[in-house]
Amino acid sequence: MKKVYIETYGCQMNEYDTELVRAVLMRDGYHMVDKEQEADIIMLNTCSVRDNANRKVYNRIHTLRHSRNGDPLLIGVLGCMATNFRQKLLNDRDLKLDFVVGPDSYKRLPSLIKEVEQSGKSAYDVTLSEFEDYADIYPSREIGVNAWIAVMRGCNNFCTFCVVPYTRGRERSRSPRNIVQEARRLANEGFKQVTLLGQNVNSYHFNGKDFAYLLEKVSQIQGLERIRFTSPHPKDFPHRLLHVVAENSKVCKHIHLPLQAGNSRVLELMNRTYSKEEYLTLVQDIRSHYPGMIITTDIIVGFPSETDVEFEDTVDVMQKVQFDAAYIFKYSERKGTIAARRFPDDVPENKKTERIVRLNELQNQISLEKNRQHIGEFQDVLIEQESTRKSPHDFQGRNDGNKIVIFPAGEYSKGEFVKVKITDATPHVLKGVVINQERTA
Ligand code: 5AD
Ligand code: SF4
Repeated sequence: MKKVYIETYGCQMNEYDTELVRAVLMRDGYHMVDKEQEADIIMLNTCSVRDNANRKVYNRIHTLRHSRNGDPLLIGVLGCMATNFRQKLLNDRDLKLDFVVGPDSYKRLPSLIKEVEQSGKSAYDVTLSEFEDYADIYPSREIGVNAWIAVMRGCNNFCTFCVVPYTRGRERSRSPRNIVQEARRLANEGFKQVTLLGQNVNSYHFNGKDFAYLLEKVSQIQGLERIRFTSPHPKDFPHRLLHVVAENSKVCKHIHLPLQAGNSRVLELMNRTYSKEEYLTLVQDIRSHYPGMIITTDIIVGFPSETDVEFEDTVDVMQKVQFDAAYIFKYSERKGTIAARRFPDDVPENKKTERIVRLNELQNQISLEKNRQHIGEFQDVLIEQESTRKSPHDFQGRNDGNKIVIFPAGEYSKGEFVKVKITDATPHVLKGVVINQERTA
């Protein structure tokens, strides 16, 4: 029995895809292992969103080839780099890759691997499909905590900086019936939380049914206690959807709302289809439906031609909105995107650094202040794992707002809810003590 080890980079969609790949391979008799040393085949499920994600993977393949020198080992690249850099990856003699397979071709993995084994030559399939939604594959998940469900794949937005429409192809949604069936099965297996995934999850539509409809349907499933979704696009937030998020007790009160930039001219160059004012109005709208909504964001600094004055608009939006958390990136030109073709990457590296440092400092202050406001609250926490920070004597999980909560370990297990009294806060985590193990919703 061939043993496979998979390493996953990038977004949650990739995490989900790895679970799909595991299911496809296991159905064909492959055995999945947790240690690369035990594997006959190694797969890297890759991300192409920024250049440092690419570089990480190149380095990793070199290391793997080096550490297993001489072994009859197969190494393959899956995911967004596969579609984006197929030729480059396969032509690179140092990498000696055996297969390169894009996000819509995972069902062909077993036959491609056989092809490689028989011919001794590398194989690839990076075809993008308008229809592949993997609705017939039940992902192989780690039992217990959160289950991802991809409700749609691909993207039609064409933000000018973004490679995703090219690496993952056109937008397609799965049927609500098929998604609800999967969610029911997950509830029966003991999952308490599902996260609905899509590159633009709120653009979900299937035969006249929209994302608000889908959220309601999934929330009606008995046994599921928390429904999350990511990532929405600010352009698609009808009041109906805001209502469902605000009113439905199972839908978590957290919205990740990528801003990308605060200046309207830059937003237009990015093809985001909203202005600074429209974004701020949406945030006001969200808060008028639910004042305590946790709002997080993504920001890019140094988009081509962004001036110092325009950058101040991003600072201004950050100050006005008071995000709970922000993921801030330097603009990284991606070959083939509209921005790469039309706008020179002309903001100097030191300017990008200056801007990212400034925003991170501001956000840290805001996050700390926001997190401190939770001190004294009693929160329901879904336990995820032993704490990755500091002490092995701690556990960590997430509250409804998706914030990490750390508390002293006890007789608890993953996937269990505990009631935690928040006693302390940093910019990135909340700390507390378990009050009891009963969840009082
Ligand atoms: N450069 C920098 N950041 C990018 N992102 C997407 N494309 C790029 C790029 N070319 C960021 C966006 C997106 C997040 C997932 O990655 O902020 O929301
Ligand atoms: Fe990276 Fe985007 Fe692909 Fe996710 S969809 S793996 S973030 S490039």
